[in-house]
Amino acid sequence: MEAVVNDNAWRGRRVFLTGHTGFKGSWLALWLLEMGAELTGYSLPAEDISLFRQAGLAGRMTHIEGDIRDMAATEAAIQAARPEVVFHLAAQPLVRLSYEQPVETFATNVQGTVHVLDACRRVQGLKAIVAVTSDKCYENREWVWPYRESDPMGGYDPYSSSKGAAELVISAYRRSYFSGADAPLVASVRAGNVIGGGDWAPDRLIPDIVRSLLADEAPFIRSPDSVRPWQHVLEALGGYLLIAQALMDGHTPIATGWNFGPAAEDTRPVRWIADRLTERWGKPGWRTGTEAQPHEARLLSLDCAKARAELGWRPTLNLGNTLDLIVSWHKDVAGGADAAAVSAAQLADYRTRMRANLANLESRSLFDAC
Ligand SMILES: NC(=O)c1ccc[n+]([C@@H]2O[C@H](COP(=O)([O-])OP(=O)(O)OC[C@H]3O[C@@H](n4cnc5c(N)ncnc54)[C@H](O)[C@@H]3O)[C@@H](O)[C@H]2O)c1
Repeated sequence: MEAVVNDNAWRGRRVFLTGHTGFKGSWLALWLLEMGAELTGYSLPAEDISLFRQAGLAGRMTHIEGDIRDMAATEAAIQAARPEVVFHLAAQPLVRLSYEQPVETFATNVQGTVHVLDACRRVQGLKAIVAVTSDKCYENREWVWPYRESDPMGGYDPYSSSKGAAELVISAYRRSYFSGADAPLVASVRAGNVIGGGDWAPDRLIPDIVRSLLADEAPFIRSPDSVRPWQHVLEALGGYLLIAQALMDGHTPIATGWNFGPAAEDTRPVRWIADRLTERWGKPGWRTGTEAQPHEARLLSLDCAKARAELGWRPTLNLGNTLDLIVSWHKDVAGGADAAAVSAAQLADYRTRMRANLANLESRSLFDAC
């Protein structure tokens, strides 16, 4: 099994991507298009300020505006695309918004996942489904040890709980409908806090800091002591693509859950990120407050030994490299550079580094013989 994202596996491949107007979906669309995939995206309309719009993605793929809470529309879009691979990223991904909108969050993240998977049961020729959940799917015990794929699902707030529930849905569909000889293989992927250029989501650390810096204001940091596994968005997406390639090749043991997180030393408190990002920007300093916040996990880290041992994946960048990429993306684009070109250059550079990094990894997959 190859531990490298291979253009040949994607050229001309019909791919259906939910959540393509979002931050991760836009980067994944850029990567898939770069490799020559025939791409259909299905999502709510893009926000006015978004990587999707900045990179002109609507004109480069089949772009469908639709709601995964609408079963009939979701199924019609998937059937029309006749995908060989489905990446399911669409979700309401914000913890604080999930406290305000629990019904919408569960409807999108749980029932929406049911709709996508159920529609997939009736797609002829579908080989692989990669469903994106979250590191927050685990029952968080607020301890220092990283979570493994075999740990119990859980979730305190509606978002985290909806992602734990989505994992149970994926598992039920895998066992009930996607285990036959001709059925597609289904994996779920659980990444840490992904960051990178082009994230404009409200109420997220990096976009909040970047918006303040662009407005020449000191960023406001809500929870400076929260600890998260930070990683560049392309790190997680590279893992998702490797998983999809293995599923397309029929490696049944890969059809399980997978963690993709940073090296242990890059699980850091929010204040560490705020210090270094503002310094790199050339405007050090930030402020914080004392007002009560809704509950969010304080300690969260991921054990990625399984991806390393069985898939041949490991992080390529460290957190310093990642912050450099974020600052240069935003400064270049704010200075008038074309966002598509800046993103393409960062992607090409990342792919070179990823190839070199994974080529050196000695451990081979347990499934090489499959
Ligand atoms: N960003 C992170 O740090 C992070 C970490 C772990 C997991 N994730 C997961 O990765 C995925 C992508 O996250 P993101 O950061 O790109 O979020 P985002 O908010 O930037 O994008 C979300 C996407 O989902 C779409 N969407 C939302 N509700 C929809 C609906 N009802 N029907 C159709 N489309 C809908 C949006 O239009 C958008 O395209 C999500 O599943 C999220 O839970 C993100």
